[in-house]
Amino acid sequence: MIFIFPRTLRLLPLLLVAGLGSFLATAQTSPAPNAQLASKQLNDRVDALLKKMTLEEKIGQLVQYSAGYATGPNASKLRYEEMVAKGQLGSMLDVVGADATNHYQHIALEKSRLHIPLLFGQDVIHGHRTTFPIPLAIAASWDPSAAELVARSGASEARADGLAWVFSPMVDIARDPRWGRIVESSGEDPYLGSAMARAWVKGYQQDDLSKPDSVAVSVKHFVGYGAAIAGRDYNAADMSEITLRQVYLPPFHAAVDAGAATLMSSFNSLNGIPASANPFTLTEILRREWGFDGFVVSDWGAIGELVNHSIGDGLTVARKALEAGVDMDMEGNLYGNVIAGQVRSGKIPESVVDEATRRVLRVKFALGLFEHPYTPAGPAYDATPERRAAARKIADETFVLLKNDPVEGVGTLLPLTAKAKKVALIGPLADDQRELLGAWAVTGDPKYVITLRTALQQRLGDRLLYAPGCGLLSGEDANVLRHVTFLGPVAGDDHSPIPDDAKTIADAVETAKKADVAILALGEPTNWMEGEASSRATLGFTGAQEQLLEAVVATGKPVILIVLAGRPLELKWAAAHVPAILEAWSPGIEAGPAVTDVLFGEVNPSGKLPSSFPRAVGQEPLYYAQLPTGRPAHGDLSHFPHDAGEKFVSRYMDEENSALFPFGWGLSYTRFSYSKPTISRAEIPASELIASAGKPVVTVGVDVKNTGSVAGTEVVQLYIRNTSASVEQPVRELKSFARVQLAPGEKKHIEFSLGFEELSFYNADLKQTVEPTTYRIWIGGSSLATAETSLHVVE
Ligand code: BGC
Repeated sequence: MIFIFPRTLRLLPLLLVAGLGSFLATAQTSPAPNAQLASKQLNDRVDALLKKMTLEEKIGQLVQYSAGYATGPNASKLRYEEMVAKGQLGSMLDVVGADATNHYQHIALEKSRLHIPLLFGQDVIHGHRTTFPIPLAIAASWDPSAAELVARSGASEARADGLAWVFSPMVDIARDPRWGRIVESSGEDPYLGSAMARAWVKGYQQDDLSKPDSVAVSVKHFVGYGAAIAGRDYNAADMSEITLRQVYLPPFHAAVDAGAATLMSSFNSLNGIPASANPFTLTEILRREWGFDGFVVSDWGAIGELVNHSIGDGLTVARKALEAGVDMDMEGNLYGNVIAGQVRSGKIPESVVDEATRRVLRVKFALGLFEHPYTPAGPAYDATPERRAAARKIADETFVLLKNDPVEGVGTLLPLTAKAKKVALIGPLADDQRELLGAWAVTGDPKYVITLRTALQQRLGDRLLYAPGCGLLSGEDANVLRHVTFLGPVAGDDHSPIPDDAKTIADAVETAKKADVAILALGEPTNWMEGEASSRATLGFTGAQEQLLEAVVATGKPVILIVLAGRPLELKWAAAHVPAILEAWSPGIEAGPAVTDVLFGEVNPSGKLPSSFPRAVGQEPLYYAQLPTGRPAHGDLSHFPHDAGEKFVSRYMDEENSALFPFGWGLSYTRFSYSKPTISRAEIPASELIASAGKPVVTVGVDVKNTGSVAGTEVVQLYIRNTSASVEQPVRELKSFARVQLAPGEKKHIEFSLGFEELSFYNADLKQTVEPTTYRIWIGGSSLATAETSLHVVE
């Protein structure tokens, strides 16, 4: 069954009530989330074209193949040129560059009967040619304008390469770092994730798809992909509809509201229904509730893989996917082969194909592809000083200072002072361009990366000593993993000998002994072990890096640890033994200069964790917004070691419950103090809150002061807890944040607005509502914030 909703009749989801009688808000016509896709003029053009199309030509618009590399199995080797000429192919992926895209576009426009332009798409994840820090790092900036800028850069560079469509942003909530794709996400929180989702969409689409440097987004992966059981990629997801609506859907909804032109359906099943054949999420929620007018593309081969999900044979799964609302088949090899016959035999109404085709054509018209199908050849790409400056500025904001404890007789190690005459830089990530670029930098080129070693060398000259320390992988792991990268065996690595870690660690120890301070650059292989199909069952440093760290710490030299990875790693030993730890993620082309900015205090770190860092992998999935338990261990926070009275409570016998570094955490070279928050009114009737839908009802204010001696930026965070509700609510939830710059001694008053959006939840009838309750409200610099006020909601 497919639902088709005329735009004029689209109704806002009805607002809600439970427990309060009948405050049903009046249904109203919702504005289309993307006015361009909804415009009458555009839809008239679509309909006029649709009338001229044969069934095969319509289905052709729903078919997509890659004529480039493959990110999954089943890559077909078909005669694409012939298919394009016959109108059997509407879109291509992984064809990059003006020449390559124009080649196929000429065939589409000159040889196909109706001259419908092709839509070229590709993964543009953290920049296109200019590679910025990974998305998880960008989320750590808590600066939506950073995401917008990265998207803007990616969009204009992609468009210059003939791509009018990017498979980004990935807005999956990721609460389990075993799942390798956490690197592409904005982390664990729906509020932060929604803010980032909006910004990515705005940066790519600029609220106007017709601009020559705008691209259409594909918001992915719809939906629940990040909740893969046990963190194993492609695995099933299973959750309540309340969790789906309260945690996993909000970033998608935010992206759709921001005008997202397309979405990508995910590989996983959700509550037993494969997401790429799920009418409830793809039609009921996406089209009916949210009014989405764009189209949905499947993930790579996901429609074909529905056969493995055991919901039918090829014919059946293609029909189910199309009828559920997946409009375009990416590499599934099915729509082009099995839909027409089923329409002819009456199994699938032709109106279903018409609607899917209409959605695809809308986006092509809105992008201006009919007017400007070709891409003019431009100058060859270069990482110009302007591009480098942008990449550095963004990277500067993403680093999170996890720890900076004073060392006896030395003080805090960071920022580095002139006292450190000789500096030893050690570690397999200190000088590796390819790894510092970060995972899934599809079109990025490692040659543009300035490594930590290069940048520090420039700065320190012969005051810098260097030792690689060990390989990123050891022993047989190295050989195995080199062969599972999606690009095939890494060139040149095939016959390289397995590193002799014992010898290189001994060299590194000698190097450290000659220096005043040792900087260790450790992490995991970003290209081999992060991103898609890169789940891990352990979260430590790979190879012999932990031994390397321990050996260098054992020299007694002060150690600064720089962690370079696309997921929270398990840093328990390091946190106990290393005085200064900087999480630098995968910083992109300006890795070295940006890390150097922070090491020397020219930039004061301001990033905050978008994802909790565990003490042990067994805590995963670990996130701050846990639901309460009847047997909490010492209230919300756990306590270790436990006393006898602590036996029958919700805790681990061998580890604390809490994160090693919690969500929102991040230090600065200065300190910030918070006043007690004030609230504009202490009490509000529930009815008023409900009627206010969309508008703020209370403001919460706080004074934040820089009490240290250097300027700094604090990410001020507001958390709530709904203390009494018909459905239990998380012990804390982020509901607002602001980046605030403060000079030494400066104090600023910050105000946050709260309203129905922030205070509501989904009740047992799946209505978004508020009930009489007390909200505890905290403001501070992390999810451990203690400055508190409250708001009472009365009948
Ligand atoms: C990934 C998507 C990606 C697509 C096209 C798939 O394997 O899951 O995120 O957009 O390939 O490259």
